[in-house]
Amino acid sequence: MTEFRLPPNSRINMNGRVHRAASGAREVRTFRIYRFDPEGSEGPRVDTFQLDLKGCGPMVLDALIQIKAVVDSTLTFRRSCREGICGSCAMNINGVNGLACTTSIHELGREIRIYPLPHMPVVKDLVPDLTNFYAQYASIRPWLRTHTPAPPDRERLQSKEDQEKIDRPAACILCACCSAGCPSYWWNSDRFLGPAALLAAYRWIIDSRDEAAGDRLDQLEDPFRLYRCHTIMNCTDVCPKDLNPARAIAEIKKMLLERRH
Ligand code: SF4
Ligand code: SF4
Ligand code: FES
Repeated sequence: MTEFRLPPNSRINMNGRVHRAASGAREVRTFRIYRFDPEGSEGPRVDTFQLDLKGCGPMVLDALIQIKAVVDSTLTFRRSCREGICGSCAMNINGVNGLACTTSIHELGREIRIYPLPHMPVVKDLVPDLTNFYAQYASIRPWLRTHTPAPPDRERLQSKEDQEKIDRPAACILCACCSAGCPSYWWNSDRFLGPAALLAAYRWIIDSRDEAAGDRLDQLEDPFRLYRCHTIMNCTDVCPKDLNPARAIAEIKKMLLERRH
């Protein structure tokens, strides 16, 4: 018989601390929030916060800020722009990866469950460790690579049509919602680059000014780095910027196939 041992801290205490709303609160929502400090002695738990939405902004991030400000200052999460631009507030909200700052509380029902992005190590509470994610992004060398000298009197120009080809893929905010939602990435994140890095690779491969497409494709032609994508499409479903990493990956596979013939 095979015996499996669960990793330490994989069991969550679902009955963590409960913070009740003040009596008389009228517009109460319940937030069930994952809490974990890997440096502490306690395992992970889910705390319950009953929050009066009176005086709170409309987004999930507003509720987190309110909880941190008035209920529990130790609650830890990332945020910066509050406008869906920086990508830092990505988390799992009612089972779906998304941005807390662009997710409306009012679309989520009376109980809202908030966890960090799945299948990533946790730094603290809702903050995932994105070290591997960023290293994979860096590995595709996300900058313009050329061997011909630039014109002496102007920038390297491209046509409007060529610019439009990279317009959408270049809009990625590196929030990691897609990669953290990809089952292939969950099991192979040490070797599969994941949808965000592959979308970035595609963005540079098709850039009319870039002269390293051949080398970029060589680097991706690998059973794990690219071909662990099985077109499950979760990445495209969850992208908060409405991008299509699954299609970009399919295009890369097509380019690799075409250059063999
Ligand atoms: S399409 Fe590929 S990258 Fe996207 S979720 Fe599926 S397996 Fe992952
Ligand atoms: S493709 Fe979308 S979900 Fe993935 S990192 Fe970029 S913006 Fe986030
Ligand atoms: S805070 Fe910047 S994307 Fe949400």
